[in-house]
Amino acid sequence: MAAAGDTPEPPRRTIPFADPESTTRVMLIASGKGGVGKSSVTVNLGVALAAAGHRTAVVDADVWGFSVPRMLGIGQEPQMVGDMIAPPEAHGVRCISMGFFAEENQAVIWRGPMLHKALEQFLTDVAWDNPDFLLVDLPPGTGDISISLAQFLPRSEVYVVTTPQPAAQRVAQRAAYMAEKVNLTVRGVIENMSWFTGDDGKRYELFGAGGGQELADQLEVPLIGQVPLIPALREGADEGRPIAAEAPDSEAGRAFSAMAAHLVDNPPPRRIYRPELKIN
Ligand SMILES: Nc1ncnc2c1ncn2[C@@H]1O[C@H](COP(=O)(O)OP(=O)(O)OP(=O)(O)O)[C@@H](O)[C@H]1O
Ligand SMILES: [Mg+2]
Repeated sequence: MAAAGDTPEPPRRTIPFADPESTTRVMLIASGKGGVGKSSVTVNLGVALAAAGHRTAVVDADVWGFSVPRMLGIGQEPQMVGDMIAPPEAHGVRCISMGFFAEENQAVIWRGPMLHKALEQFLTDVAWDNPDFLLVDLPPGTGDISISLAQFLPRSEVYVVTTPQPAAQRVAQRAAYMAEKVNLTVRGVIENMSWFTGDDGKRYELFGAGGGQELADQLEVPLIGQVPLIPALREGADEGRPIAAEAPDSEAGRAFSAMAAHLVDNPPPRRIYRPELKIN
């Protein structure tokens, strides 16, 4: 009980996406290791979902290596509307990122509890306005941030990004173990940098082949897409012009729109909530 004279704590806002009634599909984009293209996949998939008419938002949860604002080409800072943060939008995708609150080259030196709090605020204090899809770009690996997010977002679907070589696929499996540990379900595998199509029209499998399908088979989930390696994808990411927006009819653009269609057509099975079974 508060002692006389204490200011009462303001009521804590709840995370709207954790509400069993929430209609937002939350998708965590994970990988076992860095550099496989999680952020590129998150951004382009977000753009493809928005282009298909779905209200889409992205949380850049890579608090140290944030890259989503640059990839989406968002220059402006978030505005405050009352005591809520209005997320900036580009290519139809709304986004929040530590990048809006820290300088690009400044090492973000925040540690555990503060990061946990910051991530929570990304979910509670941003006027998300009930999107159809909330994509979360996780940091590489399976550390504390991913665990925090799993706690904040217990209804998330997990998608694992991997490259095609068998070694990468073994590493990617760690992301699946992480999901299992925090009680989330992996719902699909996305293979990135699957091949490079030369001027001769031939496909060159620079990083080997089959890793994505193998991982999907092991996890007993579908391989929902394969994204080719194309210089325009990297250039677009560097310049804030995602390929899914710039060239939706390109090979990579089509891969993202096909994946978006798969996601729309395959909602998760409805969980049945039985309050009488709640364990306290
Ligand atoms: N299919 C692709 N074709 C060409 N370049 C790509 C492709 N996918 C990703 N890249 C490039 O590879 C680099 C790494 O991609 P990205 O930043 O998306 O990976 P990540 O998994 O998010 O990395 P991190 O673990 O550092 O967060 C970027 O420069 C990106 O533009
Ligand atoms: Mg990234």
